[in-house]
Amino acid sequence: MAKDPVNPHLDTLLQHTGTAPFNPDTGSAPVNLPSMRASTVRFQNLQALEATQRRKNAGERVATYGRMGLDTHAALERVFCELEAGTHAYLASSGVGAITMVMMSLLSSGDHVLVSDCVYGPVYELDDALLKRLNIEVTYFSAGDDLASLVRPNTRLLYVESPGSLLFQMLDIPALANFAREHDLVLACDNTWGSGYIYQPLSLGAHVSVVAGTKYVGGHSDLMLGAVITNDTQIAQRINRTQYAMGYSISADDAWLALRGVRTLPIRMAQHGKNALQVCEFLAQRPEVARIYHPAWPQDPGHAIWQRDCTGSNGMMAVELKLSKEASRRFVDALTLFGIGYSWGGYESLVQWVTPGELARHCYWTGGDHALVRLHIGLENPADLIADLTQALEQAGV
Ligand SMILES: Cc1ncc(COP(=O)(O)O)c(C=O)c1O
Repeated sequence: MAKDPVNPHLDTLLQHTGTAPFNPDTGSAPVNLPSMRASTVRFQNLQALEATQRRKNAGERVATYGRMGLDTHAALERVFCELEAGTHAYLASSGVGAITMVMMSLLSSGDHVLVSDCVYGPVYELDDALLKRLNIEVTYFSAGDDLASLVRPNTRLLYVESPGSLLFQMLDIPALANFAREHDLVLACDNTWGSGYIYQPLSLGAHVSVVAGTKYVGGHSDLMLGAVITNDTQIAQRINRTQYAMGYSISADDAWLALRGVRTLPIRMAQHGKNALQVCEFLAQRPEVARIYHPAWPQDPGHAIWQRDCTGSNGMMAVELKLSKEASRRFVDALTLFGIGYSWGGYESLVQWVTPGELARHCYWTGGDHALVRLHIGLENPADLIADLTQALEQAGV
């Protein structure tokens, strides 16, 4: 939808946020900011250093040292604010780093946190490896649970991922946000799936959005990046202090790659979503397929929430196969255009053979002995992907 110049569309903002400013001497500028690699900043004199320090203490985004990054990083932070409709963004060296930043900023020893069971697997590891040691207790819940009965006097945080990892279960973020406010909890949501472009938890009432920029924001499978975004000033202060105290830092080159990647996010996301729906149409006809997990697919139980809360979709889906373990492994090995690997959000198609152990944590899984594969539908021509899936399904059945 076209908007007026004072209030441009996100597509427009993504092309104009964080470009290089004009040089006052020449009145010219490169289009892109350079990758500003710097471990420190030098000042002309002490007066200049102290003036910058005062501005920094007053909350301005100015640099006196290199760890938090200079202009390239600041530009990327502004892009994340645009993407997520937030006012403050903090960068981390990976998506997991961003999740850890949220937990370390908002929880203290003796606190309790409610976590949706559909979160990204390493969050369970974060709990085991770190939160338990810090005397922070986690209760995992699934969408149908009576959440009120799980809240304790020391519950501080409601941490969710929507749609959930592996099965793309849509959570009702507006309802969870109301619940969080009624119980004085902070609601944080992993929004890597939406990456701000097709889903904005902050606009739906969440306090904090967490994104692995490694995926769709970067878009080219060539960088690691995380971001935490909020529009709550008090929460922002806590995250800011924790980010500083824990020494989070990302390379200027990764920030630069992410800035370059995000310029094409609108067209990439639209094409991933379109290709994925074509693949769904093909898969739905196949006798080996028991169920497709993709919220933009009308048969997905989360479709109504997706229609209400999202503005688009992407290339992620899971496919439940009426195949034995061995046959589903043959299917994966027979694919030629899908790389076998973790991750997603790059230009290329990927497949992950999901282990029964990973699924056991997710109450949403009702497939029993069926196999599950997660597909990332890339930017290849969908007819070629469908041909590849066809031959692989045929080989699996042999
Ligand atoms: C939903 C989700 N959140 C977070 C992450 C972590 O991102 P990173 O690999 O950058 O740590 C991933 C990675 O696969 C993910 O799928």
